[in-house]
Amino acid sequence: MIKLDYRFAVKEIIRKNGLGKTEMDAVLKKARTVLKELAKQRAAGGLGFANALSDREMLRKTAELARHFEGRIENVVALGIGGSALGARTLAKALLPEPLAQNPALEKRPRLLVCDNIDPDWLKDIFKIAFSGPSLFLVISKSGATAETGSQLLFLINKLKQVYGEGWKDRLVAVTDPEKGILRKFVNQHHLKSLPVPAQVGGRYSVLTPVGLLPAGLLGIDLEQLMRGAIEMDEMSFKLSKDFGPAELLAAIYFQFAGKGRKILVMMPYSNKLSDFSEWFAQLWAESLGKKYSLAGRPVRAGSTPVRALGATDQHSQMQLYLEGPEDKLVTFLKLDKFSEPLAIPAAPAGLEELSWLTGHSMAELINVELFATSASLAREGRPSLTISIPKLDAYHLGQLFYLFELATVIAGGLWKINPFDQPGVELGKQYTYSLMGRKGFEEKKKELEQFQKKGGQYCWPK
Ligand code: PA5
Repeated sequence: MIKLDYRFAVKEIIRKNGLGKTEMDAVLKKARTVLKELAKQRAAGGLGFANALSDREMLRKTAELARHFEGRIENVVALGIGGSALGARTLAKALLPEPLAQNPALEKRPRLLVCDNIDPDWLKDIFKIAFSGPSLFLVISKSGATAETGSQLLFLINKLKQVYGEGWKDRLVAVTDPEKGILRKFVNQHHLKSLPVPAQVGGRYSVLTPVGLLPAGLLGIDLEQLMRGAIEMDEMSFKLSKDFGPAELLAAIYFQFAGKGRKILVMMPYSNKLSDFSEWFAQLWAESLGKKYSLAGRPVRAGSTPVRALGATDQHSQMQLYLEGPEDKLVTFLKLDKFSEPLAIPAAPAGLEELSWLTGHSMAELINVELFATSASLAREGRPSLTISIPKLDAYHLGQLFYLFELATVIAGGLWKINPFDQPGVELGKQYTYSLMGRKGFEEKKKELEQFQKKGGQYCWPK
């Protein structure tokens, strides 16, 4: 089981900036009330991301489809963005060798290429690799209407038809809403292979549905272990035992510190392989909690700003600011107890004797010593941090980690009294894009934009 150490968040240890016992008890009590409400929703089948864990049929179908392509592809190319991409990216980054160290032609396992942007220069390179060997393309979109994924899909189908003619259909698998949306209609019309995103699960909570599971299965990641980790975290959290669980603790601590002005939440794994986990968490936390209105319609301006950092690298970049800059941050360190290879540091050759204090240790030891040294130096400055220890980087512990942060985010939503499952703010930008791209029905929005377009010139350099 993963472990949460919050000693550097409490007053007793970091003095004035820490959380005192009374306020900690009070906020945990509120978190427990939220969790009890969520338990009712879960029992009634109304908590999508939690209920999806028990869908064995979904898991079976996903594994079966992944097996169908075993040994037949070198690349899995996923078209998708936001919640439709970050889970798969995180899993591949954490559990597979670095792409540069992979040789899919020799290994049985394909590599993952994720198209989660529309930068044409970058996409061109990805498609070049994708079409230079046997690839399976996944289009992953719950709504089916996302501009970025849609434009890539149009581009891809055109290219697939050029290269494979009628055989294009065998190269493409869709993951989308079970019934609604243009992508589902397209799948039905062309009899494409597909898997559903459970209707009640939104993008950023969907890593443990076919959205993350299909790419993971195609890459040979152990889906059973991934789900087992998540299920154990779910069951343990919803036991509502006397001791508070890690999801309640995380939500309560993040929420309480945000209320005390620590509105920047730094996620800092001391593991390159977990760097995409920070990306996944940043989306989950930001899009779920950054809200203008409470559920009751009152202005709240909820949320705190997730920042991605990487240990030990950012000790030589961001850490100076975290130690001595504004008192507005709370750092979460992710620590791997065991690396697959510790990499022993050998004896120093003549001329490098001054480095011999490192000899006899390992890189694994050094990186974890640096983590503790950094958290302790923050504590000395009265700056709070938490450390989550992961016994070993495998599918099982990643399942725990994903679910822990999903549940913590939803509990934090309850503390802020907002809806953590919608994202109303980003709609306007989408509508402006539609209007500028000439989509019918959005002409009014184009007019709205004129005010910004006209007045801009005088504030530009050069004029
Ligand atoms: O979390 C979310 O709901 C979003 O980030 C979506 O995942 C993202 O906008 C992509 O949406 P879709 O899967 O409909 O293409």
